[in-house]
Amino acid sequence: MGKVFALCTQKGGTAKTSSAIEISAWLAENNYKVLLIDLDQQCDSTRNSGIKTPMYSIHEVFQQDCKIFDAIHKTQWYDVIPASPILSKSDQIYTERDDIYLLKDVCEILLKKYDFIIIDNPPARNVLLNMTYIAADYIICPTLSDDNSIRGIIAVEQDLKKLRESRNKESHAYIIGVLLTIYESTNSHKKALDNLKKITAALPGDVFISTVRKTIKMAEVKTLCMPLQAYEKFNNASLDYKKIAKRIIDIYEEDMNG
Ligand SMILES: Nc1ncnc2c1ncn2[C@@H]1O[C@H](COP(=O)(O)OP(=O)(O)OP(=O)(O)O)[C@@H](O)[C@H]1O
Ligand SMILES: [Mg+2]
Repeated sequence: MGKVFALCTQKGGTAKTSSAIEISAWLAENNYKVLLIDLDQQCDSTRNSGIKTPMYSIHEVFQQDCKIFDAIHKTQWYDVIPASPILSKSDQIYTERDDIYLLKDVCEILLKKYDFIIIDNPPARNVLLNMTYIAADYIICPTLSDDNSIRGIIAVEQDLKKLRESRNKESHAYIIGVLLTIYESTNSHKKALDNLKKITAALPGDVFISTVRKTIKMAEVKTLCMPLQAYEKFNNASLDYKKIAKRIIDIYEEDMNG
């Protein structure tokens, strides 16, 4: 049985997709079976993993218009269930009471085959984010250094707490890590790190903080539709994601053995 790790924040451009891809690539490099589920209508994780015109997406899976395993695309690095632009209408499509469990049900089946399911989320507070909170075992929040972005972490915890404490205990997920992305060693980034330490200290449980250094190569690999991990393993940002993947593996192994 595997575990579900989700990259979440409603703030845009915080490197959710880049983090989902790089973490997936490093986990796969460590010989784990990894599935990346793209829930973002922008389809960035799908495209940036080299998948161009997929026949099926997570939307068809939810609608039972295809078999779950028919929607899985194999890449050289990890497997992907693509997103679809139609997910922009998710709040109008997934309106039935039980729709919020769709992703959890899909993950439960897939976790028999994969060690890790990594979920890339859209920068929105919509039904898909709720599905993620219900399906996930662990949440990782990537943030930029500005206050608005950092406040996004508090919003995630507030929404998770509501679900954890709801009558049916809809979620069992906690934030386990915060990534300060596109990091430079400037005073403002160092201040942001101090701010993050205060914020994570107030969150329940142990929350790791990791930085991911800025690199011009991240834009390059988006054009090449491949992980930076596969392009430049020793790039600073690659090495940062390698450490993050190691932390995730430690949490996974502890969970499996404990
Ligand atoms: N370590 C990095 N160094 C430099 N640029 C980066 C780094 N990580 C991400 N970026 C760039 O930042 C931008 C946003 O990254 P990304 O698309 O991963 O964010 P996102 O949170 O998924 O965005 P959205 O909210 O639109 O889904 C992209 O142009 C990406 O190439
Ligand atoms: Mg994204």
